[in-house]
Amino acid sequence: MFSSTQIEAFKKLQTPFYFYDLDLLRETLSQISEHGLSKGFHIHFAIKANFNFPILKLIKAAGLGIDCVSGKEIERAIEAGFEPNQLAFAGVGKTDDEILTGLRYNIFSFNCESLQELEVLNELASKEGKTANVSIRLNPNVEANTHKYITTGLNENKFGITADKLPALFELLPSFKALNLTGIHFHIGSQIRDLQPFADLCEKVNSLQDLFEQKGYQLEHVNLGGGYGIDYDAPDDEPIPNFKAFFELFERKLELREGQKVHFELGRSIVGQCGSLISKVLFIKEGISTNFAVIDAGMTELIRPALYQASHKVDVLTSNKPEKTYDVVGPICESSDTFQRGITLPKINRGDLVAIRSAGAYGEVMSSGFNLRERVKAYYTED
Ligand code: LLP
Repeated sequence: MFSSTQIEAFKKLQTPFYFYDLDLLRETLSQISEHGLSKGFHIHFAIKANFNFPILKLIKAAGLGIDCVSGKEIERAIEAGFEPNQLAFAGVGKTDDEILTGLRYNIFSFNCESLQELEVLNELASKEGKTANVSIRLNPNVEANTHKYITTGLNENKFGITADKLPALFELLPSFKALNLTGIHFHIGSQIRDLQPFADLCEKVNSLQDLFEQKGYQLEHVNLGGGYGIDYDAPDDEPIPNFKAFFELFERKLELREGQKVHFELGRSIVGQCGSLISKVLFIKEGISTNFAVIDAGMTELIRPALYQASHKVDVLTSNKPEKTYDVVGPICESSDTFQRGITLPKINRGDLVAIRSAGAYGEVMSSGFNLRERVKAYYTED
C-alpha cells in the first residue's frame, strides 16, 4: 500500500499524522462518476466525514455537492467553492443561527427532522422574507444491521419523522407558507456493507412516495442519504467500494416519478480508504498474556475503536521480521485506547512506524484535545 519512497518520507515527519492518498480518492471519485453521476444521480459528500480543503477540492472537481450538519459545515463548503444550490443541511438540532445561515445562502435543501423544526424554519424564513426549500427526513424504521451507535433509521432513533406523525405533518404542511416542499429524505445508518437494508429502504420510499402523492404532493427529489460501508479488514483487497452494485440497486428498486431527481449523501465510502493515521512505536511492553505495542497515536486522533469497537487494520511499515502477537495501544489514560487486540504482526521495536488504515472518514474530524493533545498534521500524496 505504501511505497518505499513514501515510507522514507514518513520517517522524516513528526508523528502521529494523517496521510491521504489523493490518487486513491481520484480513482474512487471516478468510479462514483461512472456508476452514479452517469445515471443522473446527485451525490452530496457528507462533509462531516472529512473537511480538509485538498479533499474537498477533488470532490468539488468531480461534480459532487455537499451534505452538511452544522452552520460551520455550510460555511466550510462555501469556502471550498461549492455552490449553495449543491448544499443539503440535515441534523436533529439546528440552532436558529444555523438555520439563518442556510437561509442566507438559499441552500438546496433543509432536511427537516421534526414538526417543530418545520414550524421554526417557517417562522424564521418568513421573518427573513425567504422561502426555504425543504426535504422532510422520514424515519423508515429499517434495520441497517450496523453498530447501534451508527444506526439512525429505527423508530427508537432520534432522527427523522416517524410514521405515527405523518397525519399531523400533512395537516400542518399547508400552513407553512414560507416553505417549499421539494423532497423526502432518509438516512438509515452508516457502515452498511450488505445491500439488503438499502433494498428495504427503497420499498419504504416507494410506499411513502405513494402516500405523498395521494396527499397531493409531487416531489422533485428523493434523498436516500449515505451509509455505504467499506472493508476495514482488508483495505488493499477492496480499496474502492463496489459503487456499481450500490447505484444499480437504487436504479432497479426505486419507483421514480417523471423528472424526479435522486440524491445521495455519501461520506465514508468516498474518503474512508484514502486516509491512514501514521504513528510511531514508543515502547514494547511485555504483559502477562500479551505484548503491548504502545504507539504515539491514541483515541484523541482516532476515536472509532474506543467509541464503536471499530477495527482498523494496523500495518507495520518499517519491520518485516518474524511474527509476534501484540495489543496495539495508544498513550491515553483509558483502557479503551486500544487499536487492536491480539493481532499477529511482524516483530516491532521502539521507533518502528505503523499505519492505522481506513481512517479517512470520521478520523481526523473526530479528534479531541483530551490530555491537552494537539491536533495532528495532515499530509497528502502530492506533499
Ligand atoms: N447523511 C446523514 C444525514 C448522515 O447523518 C450521515 C452520517 C451521512 C449522510 C453519511 O453517512 P456515511 O455515508 O458516511 O455512512 N462517526 C461514525 C459515523 C457517523 C455517521 C453519521 N452520519 C463512525 O465513525 O463510524
